[in-house]
Amino acid sequence: MDISIIGAGHVGLVTGACFADLGNRVVMVDHDTKRITALKAGTMPFYEPGLEELVHRGVADKRLRFTSSMKEAVDQGLIIFICVGTPSRPNGEADLSAVEHVCRQIASALRSYRLIVEKSTVPVETGEWIKRTMQLAVRKGVPYDVASNPEFLREGQAVQDFMNPDRIVLGVESKRAKALLLELYQPLKAPVVVTDVKSAELIKHASNSFLAVKISFINAIAQLCDWVGADVVKVAEGMGLDKRIGRAFLDAGVGYGGFCLPKDTAAFIRIAEKHGFDFQLLKAAASLNTEQRQRFVKRIAQTLWNLNTKTVGVLGLAFKPNTDDLRYAPSIEIIQMLQDEGAAIRAFDPKAMAQANGLFTGVTFCRDVYETARGADCLVVITEWNEFKELDFARIKKLMRQPVIVDGRNIYDPDSLRRLGFRYVGIGRGQGSG
Ligand code: UGA
Repeated sequence: MDISIIGAGHVGLVTGACFADLGNRVVMVDHDTKRITALKAGTMPFYEPGLEELVHRGVADKRLRFTSSMKEAVDQGLIIFICVGTPSRPNGEADLSAVEHVCRQIASALRSYRLIVEKSTVPVETGEWIKRTMQLAVRKGVPYDVASNPEFLREGQAVQDFMNPDRIVLGVESKRAKALLLELYQPLKAPVVVTDVKSAELIKHASNSFLAVKISFINAIAQLCDWVGADVVKVAEGMGLDKRIGRAFLDAGVGYGGFCLPKDTAAFIRIAEKHGFDFQLLKAAASLNTEQRQRFVKRIAQTLWNLNTKTVGVLGLAFKPNTDDLRYAPSIEIIQMLQDEGAAIRAFDPKAMAQANGLFTGVTFCRDVYETARGADCLVVITEWNEFKELDFARIKKLMRQPVIVDGRNIYDPDSLRRLGFRYVGIGRGQGSG
């Protein structure tokens, strides 16, 4: 099929590259001409495992191409996916001006039937607005459909998530739109939920919000574990084996970050508010998330007695492993709070160093874990990169001023590290008051 993707960001680029790999002809358009030029030259705008190979293959096989011309994109794609950004406004609401802008552009370039699909994460009723916006600019008599097809791609495993989805959600209003999307997704052989546009939009926001609640729930339990001397890892295991609950997203840590969960939760709270509902459950999840970072810093301070004059080695800056994305990364707030308390920061991330350089001030960036440990009073794990899991701890111990590890992702076995002579503090591993 001929497909156009508008927006070559984390969602659009993965979607386009994967559809091309499934045999479709895909054209991707972005208003960022630098990004398009770089993509044409084979340079990725961000790190995502497996994506570069897919893009190169798609381009080499002439199934994937990039353009800055919206007209070209609208001409080629029978299905046009809107994958532009929907950032947060200061009040938490999603800023949909980019969606509106591309709708106008699509409408004025439309000459024959197209299916316009919103894939960006948008509040419920955006489909309605897209239709209204299109109506104002589209030529008389040119038919089109609007559908919603939310994405459930996790950064760091987005290609895998795209190719092996738990489900595909299609919010459609016509038989034609339904048939086109079913045909497009048929090769993935995944369960499909076909519904109306509004329900599809809600499925996306409700799913991300539920995940945020799940994480905040286990972080609250972790706090209790610390108070009473229980182990949250075992509690999560015991809860997770119940099929009704499930083990996923019960990893206690420094709280959720990234460009989706914090922003989508805030947007969902706003949507509810607009309809007269005070979504207290979500508000509590969001504030627990903020407190989780504060508690974490407090825990580091308690472990080191005074942070002033201490050196903290930070392992991991990206908001999660296998990405170089620092948007709403917990590391940003945590490092700021540590610096405010007077700590000197050394830091290392396997992929996010280039982005981090422009973002943090007063941080000594290191080549690897061992350089980060040199002279540190404490090593703090913020992102659970695999390469942090197996380390030469004897070497680390010699390099550090004090052998202290505060593990914000519970990647180490407390007993093993203690046997190696470290003071180990995890999240909810039962080490006294939080
Ligand atoms: C999230 C959703 O998981 C995707 O389904 C969705 O498509 C995507 O948002 C989106 O809306 O585009 P993503 O933000 O890439 O994906 O990453 P997650 O794996 O959800 O992790 C989010 C944050 O939660 C990370 O900071 C992670 O460290 C944290 N987390 C996750 C925990 O603290 N504990 C857990 O058990 C799981």
